Amino acid sequence: MKTKIAVTGACGYIGSHTIVDLLQNGYDVICLDSLVNSNERVLLGVEKITRQKISNTKIDLADPLSWKFLAEEFQDISGVIHFAALKAVGESVQQPLRYYDNNLNALLNVFKWMDAVRIPNLIFSSSCTVYGDQCSLPVKETQAFGISPSPYGKTKQMGEWMMMDFLSASHKQGISLRYFNPAGAHESALIGEDPRNPALNLVPVITETAIGKRESLTVFGNDYPTRDGSCIRDYVHIMDLARAHTLALEYLLYDKMSISFDAYNLGIGQGISVLEMIHAFEETTGQKLNYQIGPRRPGDIPEIWADASKAEKQLQWKPEHGVEEIMRSAWEWERRRN
Ligand code: NAD
Ligand code: WQD
Repeated sequence: MKTKIAVTGACGYIGSHTIVDLLQNGYDVICLDSLVNSNERVLLGVEKITRQKISNTKIDLADPLSWKFLAEEFQDISGVIHFAALKAVGESVQQPLRYYDNNLNALLNVFKWMDAVRIPNLIFSSSCTVYGDQCSLPVKETQAFGISPSPYGKTKQMGEWMMMDFLSASHKQGISLRYFNPAGAHESALIGEDPRNPALNLVPVITETAIGKRESLTVFGNDYPTRDGSCIRDYVHIMDLARAHTLALEYLLYDKMSISFDAYNLGIGQGISVLEMIHAFEETTGQKLNYQIGPRRPGDIPEIWADASKAEKQLQWKPEHGVEEIMRSAWEWERRRN
């Protein structure tokens, strides 16, 4: 019998790429998604890539009754990978209650379900935003949480605290994965980032500009104290990120972790500036980008990149794709979905 893994937010960007890796590694996957920021059609792409049938159970995990439904419908599950959350940083500043309600209640209901049907393992989607704006670089997991600039970021910090308390009291185990900047698409271009809301992150803004959906791209500031004045981030390819989830899950399934909670940075350990990203796109794809320099975006920090050596050492995670592959796959995906 295959090991059953439940994936919340499975139709979203990172969830859909992760279920490809899970299915290709022999896991049975239960997809749970409210579709608030995604579309079930992504699963057609997953089916084409993996040649396996897969369907979504549409459920709002923030609904107080959701865990009871899950407990009745789904048992014998070895682990939950919890992606389901709202993730737009700016929107969370405008609508803090919606973000606290959705992200924290969804997590609490996952805990209740795990308790009710004895699910032993949890992987949680966290973010480098938990470190705030005052950290030494490259940032390590031992860095204390900073002041998170947004309600979204605070839901990730609170999520980790809640997880620690829950896991230790219930004798379960879990890993929080702190993503840096996920980007790119599956090499087949059958799946990629396909949100219901307008894209705000740099790479989709680049590809949407190149294809003509946007007139131009604004670089948010070129007066930062960085090598070319634009902000520096750690861009990690989506399939490398997906792989890390299977590895983290297996770390738990094969009893390699002796504590109830741990956290891992997922980045490539190299910072790239916004202007370097633009040039990498132009060089990789041969497309010229219409861009101009604009003012700084409020809340942006000048630079952050990961020390991801803990994930490499303990989870055996080695990112295999660089910025060229991010740009090539993101561009292929943009061209295919139009
Ligand atoms: P996404 O919006 O593409 O996917 C999230 C999915 O969760 C969506 O399909 C959405 O419909 C679903 N969802 C949201 N609330 C739900 C609820 N109450 N019940 C059921 N489903 C719900 O986002 P993503 O980029 O795939 O992000 C996945 C996770 O990773 C999120 O927790 C996000 O905060 C985290 N994260 C993302 C990034 C990034 O840059 N993409 C970086 C760091 C962390
Ligand atoms: C990257 C760089 C922008 C768009 C966000 C969240 C973080 C995490 C990852 C969830 C920045 C610049 C962008 C544009 C630009 N998500 N930029 N013009 O802000 O590093 O991180 O996603 O957890 O929490 O904050 O990502 O892709 O928005 O920006 O110049 O049109 O690109 O200023 O320097 P960010 P991003």
